[in-house]
Amino acid sequence: MILVTGGAGFIGSNFVLDWLAQPDDATPNPEPLINLDALTYAGNLENLAGLKGDARHIFVHGSIGDVDLVTRLLAEHQPRAVINFAAESHVDRSIHGPEDFIQTNIVGTFHLLEAVRSYWQDLDSERKDHFRFLHVSTDEVYGSLAKDDPAFAETNRYEPNSPYSASKAASDHLVRAYHHTYGLPVLTTNCSNNYGPYHFPEKLIPLVIHNALAGKPLPIYGDGQQIRDWLYVKDHCSAIRRVLEAGRVGETYNVGGWNEKPNLDVVHTLCAILDELQPRADGRPYKDQITYVTDRLGHDRRYAINASKIERELGWKPVETFETGIRKTIQWYLEHRGWVQNVTSGAYRQWMDKNYGVNA
Ligand code: NAD
Ligand code: DAU
Repeated sequence: MILVTGGAGFIGSNFVLDWLAQPDDATPNPEPLINLDALTYAGNLENLAGLKGDARHIFVHGSIGDVDLVTRLLAEHQPRAVINFAAESHVDRSIHGPEDFIQTNIVGTFHLLEAVRSYWQDLDSERKDHFRFLHVSTDEVYGSLAKDDPAFAETNRYEPNSPYSASKAASDHLVRAYHHTYGLPVLTTNCSNNYGPYHFPEKLIPLVIHNALAGKPLPIYGDGQQIRDWLYVKDHCSAIRRVLEAGRVGETYNVGGWNEKPNLDVVHTLCAILDELQPRADGRPYKDQITYVTDRLGHDRRYAINASKIERELGWKPVETFETGIRKTIQWYLEHRGWVQNVTSGAYRQWMDKNYGVNA
């Protein structure tokens, strides 16, 4: 049994689905999992609809900050690992309202660590040795790179620039401290920008796909020359499984796709593929909808991940290139217009209530 937090969000739900869809080489016998999620606006149980009735998926509506609840879940299910995806994740929201980011990403992670520490300390020595706390973090903790700087390595100094990245950096430090102080067997992954199915359409790639199809403007912040490294979400999930099984305790692993792209190039690629797969009724190209808007405050210019440590030590490499992954992603969005419609209209909240009796 493992405990996953934030498993109704974008990456968490992909992880849960992939985990239970095993076996593969990395996970020959997938254990059941408990999925603890607070169902904020970003949590959507519709992502997990395919698991309805599957006894291996135990969904619990609650917060990582609820020590009593987490303590009870740990005592009852005796997981061998906790994987922490739960977070506030959108940089723009952190600029408009940092409070939730401090509460969830810092205070919430602290409470989760406290509950896990007390559970772990009482395990017998064999289970104690095998237990893992895997914390899912971001490349944004390293700050911003100049054009010719080398990519982020695990040894880079933390220089977070947004309330979001500062809150993630703080949580990484707490995780590290729980290892050094109490010996909790932790692992941390710092990953670049993910894209793929179930991505909430507030983030660049799903927003552009949705707006393009809806005939709306495609907003480019500033000059659109900010660079991100893009990784297909299922590659991120396989990296997490690999680190969980073979990562060295106390270590951090950078995870990336070796796919650095300026935002404008990403948007042009999306437009070109949509022109091919779903041409506009008026025959005009989707790139006509591109609109330059005011830049994000404190916008980081460039992220790049050096993912050679995870490749060298654990033999992990991404399967998808940007070209293959982005095509799959667009195809997914074209085939799941109902999912996008439910998210953008807010109908997914009622859907959860109806299907799961969850009052989100
Ligand atoms: P998301 O916003 O899509 O999902 C977050 C999930 O956490 C939601 O289901 C939400 O309901 C849940 N949650 C929020 N607060 C909670 C709480 N207090 N208790 C329990 N659940 C709570 O985020 P995502 O994009 O899936 O990111 C998942 C993790 O991966 C985050 O920690 C994020 O920092 C990290 N990360 C994301 C990316 C990316 O590109 N999206 C890249 C690197 C790292
Ligand atoms: O690098 C990893 C991070 O990637 C994760 O830790 C975050 O949780 C995740 O949200 C993502 O952060 P970004 O800020 O990079 O992602 P976002 O999709 O919001 O923006 C990607 C780039 O596109 C960024 O440079 C801002 C720009 N952008 C974004 C939006 C939403 C636009 O130009 N227009 C937009 O409308």
